[in-house]
Amino acid sequence: MTLHWTSEATDGAARAGVLHTAHGDVPTPVFMPVGTAGTVKAMTADAVRSTGARMVLGNTYHLMLRPGAERVARLGGLHKMMDWPGPILTDSGGFQVMSLSGLRQMNEQGVTFQSHIDGSKHRLTPERSVEIQHLLDADVTMCLDECTPFPATEKQAADSMRLSMRWAARCRAAFTPREGYGLFGIVQGGVHPDLRAESVDALTGIGFEGYAVGGLAVGEGQETMFTVLDGTLPRLPAAKTRYLMGVGTPSDLMGAVARGIDMFDCVMPTRSGRTGRAYTRAGVMNMRNARHADDGGPIDPGCACPACARHSRAYIHHLFKAGEMLGPMLLTWHNIQYYQDLMAELRGAILAGTFAATAALIEAGWHRGEE
Ligand code: GUN
Ligand code: ZN
Repeated sequence: MTLHWTSEATDGAARAGVLHTAHGDVPTPVFMPVGTAGTVKAMTADAVRSTGARMVLGNTYHLMLRPGAERVARLGGLHKMMDWPGPILTDSGGFQVMSLSGLRQMNEQGVTFQSHIDGSKHRLTPERSVEIQHLLDADVTMCLDECTPFPATEKQAADSMRLSMRWAARCRAAFTPREGYGLFGIVQGGVHPDLRAESVDALTGIGFEGYAVGGLAVGEGQETMFTVLDGTLPRLPAAKTRYLMGVGTPSDLMGAVARGIDMFDCVMPTRSGRTGRAYTRAGVMNMRNARHADDGGPIDPGCACPACARHSRAYIHHLFKAGEMLGPMLLTWHNIQYYQDLMAELRGAILAGTFAATAALIEAGWHRGEE
C-alpha cells in the first residue's frame, strides 16, 4: 500500500491519527523540523530524535544545487546521508526558487533559475522535481507548484493556481507509486474562496495520497489564513492527511489543528533559536535581553530539553553575548522540544476529547509572554 493516513479520534474538526510511511509510522498532528540542506541546522540527528520528532523536511531546491540529487542517490539516499532513518518529506522547489534564486523565468513547461550559491543556471519541471525527490528517497514527494504571491489580483491568483494544477497532473503522471511512498497535491488560489474550491476539485479529481494547503502565511494575516482554512478543509477528503505548508507560530498551529490540519513544517523554532529567541509555555523570550544575565533558573521549568534541564538562563544569555555556537545549538534544541511537546499535548487532548479547553489554556499562557 502507498503512504496513507488512518484516523484515531476527532474532537470537533481536530483530528488525531497516524501517517504510515516506508520509514515508519508518525502520530499526527505532527510538526516536522526543517532540515533544508540535509541537516536540521545546529542539531545532530540523535538530538532531533530525542525531542520526539518523528519526521523531518528536506528541500529539493537546496539539495539539487548542493550536493546534487544524483550524488545523494549514490550516497544511499537522504535518510542514510543525514542519519535520519525516519520518514522525510521534501518540498518540491518551486517555493524556494521564488524566494531564494536570482534571475528566473517561468513558463508552462517549468521554471529556469540562477542558483543563489554560484549563479549557475538550472531548470525545474514537474517531472524533474518528482525525479529529484525520488533520487533523494523522500517518503512524501510534493508537487511542483507556484506559491502565489500576496497580494495578487484575482486574475493573477487564478492563472497561477491553474498552472499549479496542470503541473500537479504532470507530477502525478511522473510519480511511480511504491509501498509506503506518496505524492501530495498542493491547494493554491490565494485568499479567493472560489479559486481555493476550484483547486481542491482539480486535485481531488487527480487523486493524491495527501493534500497540502500552500500559499498561506505570506502576509495575509492569521485571521485571513484561518478563513481560507475554514473554506478549504471541509472540501478535502476526510480520509486523507492535510498538511499546512510553512506554518507557523504556536497560535497558528493550534488554530490550524482546530480546523483539521494534521501536518506542519516551519523554520520558526530553528531560525529564531539561532538568533536567541526561546519559545516557552509563557510566551517568547529573547535570551540576549540583559534581564537574564543573573537569572539562575531554567528557560522553561516545564521543559525536559538539556538547555532547560542542565543550564540556566544566565548561561544561555552569556553564550549568546559571547557568540559561542553552543548558544544557538541549545536554543534550537529547546525550541524543537517546545514544538514537539506542544503537538504531543494537542494530540493527547484530541484523544481525550478536551482539545478546545487545552488549546485555550495554552493560548492564554502564550499571551503572557514578554515580547
Ligand atoms: N512552503 C510554504 N508555502 C508553500 C507553497 O505554497 N508551496 C510550496 N511548494 N512550499 C511552500
Ligand atoms: Zn527546554
